[in-house]
Amino acid sequence: MCAKFSINDCPVIDLGKIHSERRGDITVVENDGTLPFDVKRVYYLYDVPGGASRGAHAHKELSQLIVAASGSFQVTLDDGKVRRTFFLNRPYQGLLVRPGIWRDLDDFSSGAVCMVLASDVYKKEDYIRDYQAFLDFRGINC
Ligand code: TYD
Repeated sequence: MCAKFSINDCPVIDLGKIHSERRGDITVVENDGTLPFDVKRVYYLYDVPGGASRGAHAHKELSQLIVAASGSFQVTLDDGKVRRTFFLNRPYQGLLVRPGIWRDLDDFSSGAVCMVLASDVYKKEDYIRDYQAFLDFRGINC
């Protein structure tokens, strides 16, 4: 099959913030159309040792919004043809990752928290962990 989404469908979305003078900020995500999917699962990744990398997979159906809730890290997206690296370090921004996009996460700062809002519950069978299988899934030769 030829997958539908490309790197150009994976923007950094500005979620906005509610600013309270001298008392901090709040960022809100609601199932009101802010994202092109409703959120069914939230998980967060933390205590990542320096130099470690995460990800190295694509999803067949899942959409995600990746947020640097604290600290910073790098996300490299790959649609089989184009690769793009994003540096995330703002809790009011999120990187939209559509189905069929390979992702690698690395360069985690000390204390980084990677929060992920996902369109579905955890499903092992939705993962593609082999890069060649990913290219096949993308229909890179079609
Ligand atoms: P994985 O998604 O590969 O993590 P990352 O992309 O951050 O490197 O998941 C790592 C492990 O955690 C894997 O064994 C599956 C498990 N896991 C769950 O059980 N539930 C979940 O919601 C997630 C995201 C992972």
